Amino acid sequence: MPNYGSRDVCMVRGEGARVWDADDRAYLDFVSGIAVNNLGHCHPAVVKAIQEQAAKLIHTSNGVLLEPQIELAELLCRETGMTKAMFGNSGCEVTEGAIKLSRVWGREGFKESKHKIMVFTGSFHGRTYGAMSATYSPKVRKGFDPFVPGFVFAEFNNIADVDAKWDDDICCVMLETIQGEGGVRPATTEFLKGLQVRCRERKAVFICDEVQCGMGRTGKRMAYMHAGVQPDVVPIAKALGGGFPIGGLLARGEFADVFTKGRHGTTFGGNPLACATALASTKIIFDDRFLETVWHKGLKLNSLLQAIAAEFPDLCDHVRGIGLMQGLVLKVNALDIPTLARKHGLILNATAETVLRVLPPLTVTDGELEEFGSKLRATLGEVKTG
Ligand SMILES: Cc1ncc(COP(=O)(O)O)c(C=O)c1O
Repeated sequence: MPNYGSRDVCMVRGEGARVWDADDRAYLDFVSGIAVNNLGHCHPAVVKAIQEQAAKLIHTSNGVLLEPQIELAELLCRETGMTKAMFGNSGCEVTEGAIKLSRVWGREGFKESKHKIMVFTGSFHGRTYGAMSATYSPKVRKGFDPFVPGFVFAEFNNIADVDAKWDDDICCVMLETIQGEGGVRPATTEFLKGLQVRCRERKAVFICDEVQCGMGRTGKRMAYMHAGVQPDVVPIAKALGGGFPIGGLLARGEFADVFTKGRHGTTFGGNPLACATALASTKIIFDDRFLETVWHKGLKLNSLLQAIAAEFPDLCDHVRGIGLMQGLVLKVNALDIPTLARKHGLILNATAETVLRVLPPLTVTDGELEEFGSKLRATLGEVKTG
């Protein structure tokens, strides 16, 4: 179907921060499959886990105990302050899970009408009906109404608007800790703390969607850790499986037991192959020394982008982001720039009309950061001279 537009390049292999097309042309990949290949392409530990698990057990049903699933759940919960995990296959599926969990919690714990979900301007939570109803972007929503009822939009990073829109029927507040599709916009620490306080006081589930910004991307295990908050429910996906599809729904305390027997489920979610792969990838990413290197590389990337922004003042407005999730905000439309960048051997992404989203693998080297700088300068040089 033509939903991904015309695709004029065919990628056939990858290694680290690099991919090669069918004509054996190399590209530096600074999108990482949109924050999926956090260990780069074909990391040996990920490849080995897939090969070994595939030879042992690929799939059974969720009606039995599965060692990789248990080990992955334990690792994720231990390292994120959560209590229990459930697995799905994608980001939208686990954000759907977060919404469903919150409604059951609100209704059965408090009152029948406690069902409303507070979400935010600029948000993106996925393309299925619940997740899309939580998504702000008119482009994503166009033509698909009527939406799931009960979603209330407040202005991102505006706590006064949260208070103005709040009523007693709100059962949860869900936000991306750093909006990805919305243009790499971090929630402020004050905003996150303000939401946490309100959720605790007014009895609502505090959900940080870490599908894009989690799993080490910002130099901490989860992006909310920078703000010192502890959400109740956290959907993760994308980088969780090191390139293999898997999503996770993490919940703490009482929220971990809302889905009683038969309340929610999925055929493939948490299957042994996906979990063994995710386990191999997560063990590397959750290492403190590894995360420390991500943080420092994030600072370097940010400085590099600031320098480039200063060199192209007619094109560039400012740089924002945390760790290795950075956005170069342009004064011009950015949507055609990735095609131009590809001619210079650089894979880049544009979002929210004017933002170049920069998501290198967390394993990126200093040399690759420099190479990225040269390729981006060459690309922007062409935009400038038309
Ligand atoms: C923050 C966030 N939540 C949810 C999703 C949906 O994930 P998926 O595309 O795996 O369904 C995305 C995808 O980009 C996302 O960025």
